[in-house]
Amino acid sequence: MMVLLSLLTLWGCSDRGRETKLWSNLCTGCHDGRTAPTAGRIREKYRSIGEFSVAVGSRGHRCMEILKNDDALIRKVGLEIGLRDRQ
Ligand code: HEC
Repeated sequence: MMVLLSLLTLWGCSDRGRETKLWSNLCTGCHDGRTAPTAGRIREKYRSIGEFSVAVGSRGHRCMEILKNDDALIRKVGLEIGLRDRQ
Protein backbone atom coordinates (compact mmCIF):
# COMPACT_ATOMS: atom_id res chain seq x y z
CA MET A 1 0.00 0.00 0.00
CA MET A 2 2.74 2.46 0.90
CA VAL A 3 4.49 1.73 -2.39
CA LEU A 4 1.30 2.36 -4.28
CA LEU A 5 0.77 5.62 -2.44
CA SER A 6 4.32 6.77 -3.12
CA LEU A 7 3.94 5.93 -6.77
CA LEU A 8 0.72 7.86 -6.95
CA THR A 9 2.38 10.79 -5.22
CA LEU A 10 5.31 10.72 -7.60
CA TRP A 11 3.00 10.45 -10.56
CA GLY A 12 0.90 13.31 -9.24
CA CYS A 13 3.90 15.59 -8.93
CA SER A 14 5.78 14.73 -12.10
CA ASP A 15 2.59 14.87 -14.11
CA ARG A 16 2.36 18.61 -13.69
CA GLY A 17 5.99 19.28 -13.06
CA ARG A 18 5.52 21.04 -9.78
CA GLU A 19 4.99 20.44 -6.12
CA THR A 20 1.68 20.38 -4.33
CA LYS A 21 1.93 24.05 -3.53
CA LEU A 22 -1.65 24.99 -2.82
CA TRP A 23 -2.29 21.86 -0.80
CA SER A 24 0.81 22.37 1.37
CA ASN A 25 0.22 26.08 1.82
CA LEU A 26 -3.50 26.00 2.47
CA CYS A 27 -4.40 22.59 3.78
CA THR A 28 -1.59 20.66 5.47
CA GLY A 29 -1.76 22.86 8.56
CA CYS A 30 -4.83 20.86 9.56
CA HIS A 31 -4.66 17.97 7.10
CA ASP A 32 -1.67 16.40 8.80
CA GLY A 33 -3.27 13.04 9.53
CA ARG A 34 -4.22 14.03 13.09
CA THR A 35 -6.65 16.92 12.92
CA ALA A 36 -7.85 16.04 9.44
CA PRO A 37 -6.99 13.38 6.86
CA THR A 38 -3.85 13.56 4.70
CA ALA A 39 -3.85 14.00 0.93
CA GLY A 40 -3.28 10.25 0.57
CA ARG A 41 -6.37 9.42 2.61
CA ILE A 42 -8.47 11.91 0.70
CA ARG A 43 -7.24 10.48 -2.59
CA GLU A 44 -8.30 7.01 -1.47
CA LYS A 45 -11.70 8.25 -0.48
CA TYR A 46 -12.69 10.49 -3.35
CA ARG A 47 -12.21 9.31 -6.88
CA SER A 48 -12.94 12.53 -8.73
CA ILE A 49 -12.76 16.27 -8.38
CA GLY A 50 -16.56 16.29 -8.31
CA GLU A 51 -16.80 14.07 -5.22
CA PHE A 52 -13.94 15.96 -3.64
CA SER A 53 -15.60 19.35 -4.01
CA VAL A 54 -18.85 18.05 -2.59
CA ALA A 55 -16.86 16.83 0.41
CA VAL A 56 -15.14 20.18 0.84
CA GLY A 57 -18.53 21.85 0.81
CA SER A 58 -20.32 19.47 3.13
CA ARG A 59 -17.80 17.74 5.39
CA GLY A 60 -15.25 20.45 5.85
CA HIS A 61 -14.34 22.35 8.93
CA ARG A 62 -15.63 25.86 9.55
CA CYS A 63 -12.13 27.15 8.75
CA MET A 64 -12.51 25.82 5.23
CA GLU A 65 -15.35 28.27 4.59
CA ILE A 66 -13.24 30.38 2.17
CA LEU A 67 -12.85 27.39 -0.09
CA LYS A 68 -16.44 26.43 -0.43
CA ASN A 69 -17.45 28.97 -3.02
CA ASP A 70 -14.25 28.76 -4.98
CA ASP A 71 -14.68 25.87 -7.41
CA ALA A 72 -11.58 26.82 -9.38
CA LEU A 73 -9.42 26.63 -6.27
CA ILE A 74 -10.96 23.35 -5.15
CA ARG A 75 -10.29 21.92 -8.58
CA LYS A 76 -6.64 23.03 -8.56
CA VAL A 77 -6.05 21.54 -5.14
CA GLY A 78 -7.79 18.33 -6.22
CA LEU A 79 -5.57 18.02 -9.28
CA GLU A 80 -2.50 18.69 -7.14
CA ILE A 81 -3.22 15.81 -4.81
CA GLY A 82 -3.83 13.53 -7.77
CA LEU A 83 -7.58 13.41 -8.24
CA ARG A 84 -9.04 12.96 -11.69
CA ASP A 85 -10.97 15.64 -13.40
CA ARG A 86 -13.86 13.58 -14.63
CA GLN A 87 -17.23 15.15 -14.74
C1 HEC B 1 -8.36 25.00 9.91
C2 HEC B 1 -8.14 23.64 9.61
C3 HEC B 1 -8.36 23.13 8.19
C4 HEC B 1 -7.86 23.65 7.03
C5 HEC B 1 -6.94 24.85 6.84
C6 HEC B 1 -8.36 22.81 5.97
N1 HEC B 1 -9.14 21.81 6.49
FE1 HEC B 1 -10.16 20.38 5.46
N2 HEC B 1 -10.90 19.63 7.18
C7 HEC B 1 -10.61 20.09 8.44
C8 HEC B 1 -11.34 19.29 9.42
C9 HEC B 1 -11.26 19.45 10.93
C10 HEC B 1 -12.05 18.33 8.68
C11 HEC B 1 -13.00 17.25 9.22
C12 HEC B 1 -12.21 15.97 9.42
C13 HEC B 1 -13.12 14.84 9.83
O1 HEC B 1 -14.35 14.96 9.75
O2 HEC B 1 -12.58 13.80 10.22
C14 HEC B 1 -11.77 18.58 7.29
C15 HEC B 1 -12.32 17.83 6.26
C16 HEC B 1 -11.99 17.97 4.93
C17 HEC B 1 -12.47 17.12 3.88
C18 HEC B 1 -13.38 15.90 4.05
C19 HEC B 1 -12.47 14.79 4.49
C20 HEC B 1 -13.14 13.46 4.67
O3 HEC B 1 -12.61 12.64 5.44
O4 HEC B 1 -14.16 13.20 4.04
C21 HEC B 1 -11.91 17.56 2.72
C22 HEC B 1 -12.11 16.97 1.33
C23 HEC B 1 -11.09 18.70 3.05
N3 HEC B 1 -11.16 18.93 4.40
C24 HEC B 1 -10.35 19.44 2.15
C25 HEC B 1 -9.53 20.52 2.49
C26 HEC B 1 -8.72 21.26 1.54
C27 HEC B 1 -8.64 20.95 0.06
C28 HEC B 1 -8.08 22.24 2.25
C29 HEC B 1 -7.10 23.29 1.72
C30 HEC B 1 -7.47 24.05 0.57
C31 HEC B 1 -8.49 22.14 3.63
N4 HEC B 1 -9.37 21.09 3.74
C32 HEC B 1 -8.05 22.97 4.63
C33 HEC B 1 -9.80 21.15 8.77
C34 HEC B 1 -9.16 21.97 7.85
